[in-house]
Amino acid sequence: MAVKLSKRVNCVGDSATIRLNDVANRLRLDGKDVINLGVGEPDFDTPLFIREAAKRAIGDGDTHYAPSLGKQRLREDIADKLREDNRIDASPKNIIVSAGAKHIIFMAINALLDGEEEAMLFCPAWVSYEACIKLAGGRVNWVKTKEEDAFQPSDLQDKINKKTKLLVVNSPNNPTGSVYKKDTLKMIRDLAIDRDLYVISDEIYEKIIYEADHISLASFDGMAERTITVNGFSKSYAMTGWRLGYACAPKEIIGGMLKIQQHSVTCAASFSQEAAIKAMEGPQDNLKRMVEEFKRRRDILIEGLNSIGIRCVRPAGAFYTFVDVSKFGGDSNAFCEKMLREGYVVMIPGYAFGPGWEKYVRISYAAPLEKIEEALLRMEKIFALGKQK
Ligand SMILES: Cc1ncc(COP(=O)(O)O)c(C=O)c1O
Repeated sequence: MAVKLSKRVNCVGDSATIRLNDVANRLRLDGKDVINLGVGEPDFDTPLFIREAAKRAIGDGDTHYAPSLGKQRLREDIADKLREDNRIDASPKNIIVSAGAKHIIFMAINALLDGEEEAMLFCPAWVSYEACIKLAGGRVNWVKTKEEDAFQPSDLQDKINKKTKLLVVNSPNNPTGSVYKKDTLKMIRDLAIDRDLYVISDEIYEKIIYEADHISLASFDGMAERTITVNGFSKSYAMTGWRLGYACAPKEIIGGMLKIQQHSVTCAASFSQEAAIKAMEGPQDNLKRMVEEFKRRRDILIEGLNSIGIRCVRPAGAFYTFVDVSKFGGDSNAFCEKMLREGYVVMIPGYAFGPGWEKYVRISYAAPLEKIEEALLRMEKIFALGKQK
């Protein structure tokens, strides 16, 4: 029987980042010395005291359904954090916890968008926003940013139309590592209020930041009532496998998301939430060490790229750099293919992050320093690049 999938599913592609990770794992199983610079997760282990908390919870029988909104103590901790770190006027009634920030974004978009309505995405954009919008039946209004503006969006007024309902903002940004300046955020704030738009502010890389300051959009005047602030534990606490993310939003939007949660995943895993409570209430020095190490790697990667003639913006946050590789001929798909097949180095081609980025690749530096250095050597060799001044 010919299988007929829904139109909604047929109109989204698979996730290029997850697919390339799978290819890397297969090559590794074949005994190849693969260097994965495609990954979107810290290469550090979850701190021991957090793992111990989950073990204790399981030992104590905390293995049942948790409240759908999330455990009360965790939601209180999150509200405290948002008030203290982000200057967002939050209380537990504004918080929902779910199985990863990705599912939080999926629920937020589904709670807000109707068919034919549009969400504006600043491009290049993280791979899953477009899919979430399309799966909700909505449309994407792509707005391209420019490398020469350090990938900060601008001139948005005339790109809004009657169907635009939602802006999706992501700072620090995946894939560019750009951190939006206060002026950029203020411009987005003015636009959202002037044109009566909702904003999803994905702040998952908030703590992985170097020379810049993170400012939450919901802390601007008039924004709390129209902003869904998204965050989670995957990046700051190296807890990708625990599947824990959260949103802070007006309680009506939380109510909409709750319905989706109740009819999909029910709740986030109970013992993962115990671990998250420990992560928030315990010492934060692991995070500090992790960020210092990312910064060291970033600097070496950027210097290495420069020395082989690849110029790029020094990213101020997250653990990615987004670089133009057109000087090597062909598009970035061909570049990534060559790096993978001949050098066993995984990088993500720019097309995965939206239209118009076919010349770029995303390089993640969530890999040990010696692997980054080795990947640069392989790149130099494959493309026969001489050191350039
Ligand atoms: C920008 C961005 N938002 C959200 C997520 C999802 O994170 P989680 O692991 O919490 O689902 C990611 C993960 O790569 C991301 O890069």
